[in-house]
This record gives sequence, structure tokens and C-alpha cells, in this order.
Amino acid sequence: MKKYVILIFVSLLLSTCTYDIYSPNACFNEDVLPIFISNCTYSGCHNAKDKESGYNLTNYDGIMKGISPKHPLQSELYNVIRGSNPSMPPSPYSKLSDKDLNTIKDWIKMGARNTSNCKICDTTSFTYNSRVKIVLQSWCVGCHSSGNAGGGYDLSDYNGVVAAITNNRFLGSIKHQSGFSAMPKNSNQLSQCDLTAIEKWVASGYPNN
Ligand code: HEC
Repeated sequence: MKKYVILIFVSLLLSTCTYDIYSPNACFNEDVLPIFISNCTYSGCHNAKDKESGYNLTNYDGIMKGISPKHPLQSELYNVIRGSNPSMPPSPYSKLSDKDLNTIKDWIKMGARNTSNCKICDTTSFTYNSRVKIVLQSWCVGCHSSGNAGGGYDLSDYNGVVAAITNNRFLGSIKHQSGFSAMPKNSNQLSQCDLTAIEKWVASGYPNN
């Protein structure tokens, strides 16, 4: 009897798998790194070239210089971004969302490990709202919002994304083709899973679905 209950549970679990299922811990490469890349690595700030205050926040080793694993409150990088009036990111950039702060805090509490591939790749969903928008929010919008539109592109809403696509600047930049600025700036390419989802959505006529 017990065996059947376990079988039913496992098949339920498998059948409900979606892109948004995480391992119990916040994942460094998929959840934490994009927050730093798109909020801290602007020109003049914490990228490989400028290294403001000695911090290059474009990779794990650079980020770990300001992190004390398991102790968010002893981590300089967490202390400068938390609270109601944090010193980072400095004005005019906006403070991190509570969701992003919690992701970073949880990741530090769990040991701040260099984890990747924690998400299950959903190879069936290519809609704007449930897939493409989520990738862009996490990897791009910090540098492409209305207040901070890198290259003139605001990717925080559907119309802005369509503008980049119809200007023929969108796919070339995320596929790192020559003649385009490679995006996300200061980072590796998006995962193959995310790239495929975005390309399929664009190829289907980029519906607002
Ligand atoms: C760290 C900031 C930053 C991040 C993160 C970032 N961008 Fe950009 N983006 C810029 C800047 C600045 C420019 C202007 C050109 C340049 O400086 O390279 C730009 C330019 C672009 C362009 C125009 C490229 C061209 O060759 O004409 C597109 C399209 C674009 N970004 C899309 C994206 C997408 C999609 C993402 C996420 C997958 C992203 N960007 C992530 C800062 C960023």
C-alpha cells in the first residue's frame, strides 16, 4: 500500500514540474548572480574593468569577497543593500526589491555555495508572461528599465521588448552575434534553456501571451 502512495506522489511531482521549481536553496548562478549583474555592474561600478571599491561583482569569486557564508549580517555586500535607505545601489538607481534581498539572504544563510543548474528546464512553455518576462526581469531589467534604459531599451514591459525585437537588436545581442553588444552585459550568455525559450517565442511572432 505504502509503495503505491509513494508512486502516486512521485508521479504527481513529476507531472507538475515547471520552470519555477527550485531546489530548496536559492541557486547562485540562476537566482543570485543575475541580481548582482543587473544591479551592480553598470559602467563606472562593480564590473571587471571599473572594480569600484575593489569589487568586481560579475562572478562568484568577486562576490564572495563581500560575503561571510551563513552570516548575512556579517556580510558587507548584504549590509550595504538592505534596509530602508541602503547605500547601494547609489542614487539614481533604485534599491533592490524585497524578493531579491530575500534571495540573497537565503543564499548566504544556506552557505553561499557556487550552485548552478538548480532549475528544471521547461521545454514546453514559451509564453511571454510565464517564461520570457521572467528571464528578462531577472537578467536584464536592472539595466533596462524606464529610469535606466541601457542603449535606450526599456525591457521591463512587453512594448519595450517588442521595440528591441522590431529594431532587429534583440536576438543578435543575446546570441552574442558579431555587430551587436553582447547581452546580458558583463555576463556569460543566458542558459541554452532560456535562449531556446526566447527564440521560440520570437519565432512564433512574439505574442503578448
Ligand atoms: C549591466 C547592465 C546590462 C545588463 C545586465 C543588460 N544590458 Fe543590455 N545594454 C546595456 C547597455 C549599457 C547597452 C548599450 C550598449 C552597450 O553599452 O553595450 C545595452 C544594449 C542592449 C541592446 C542593444 C544592443 C545593440 O547591439 O544594439 C539590447 C537589445 C539589449 N541591451 C538587451 C539586453 C537583454 C535582452 C539583456 C538581458 C538578457 C540585457 N540587455 C542585459 C546594459 C545592460
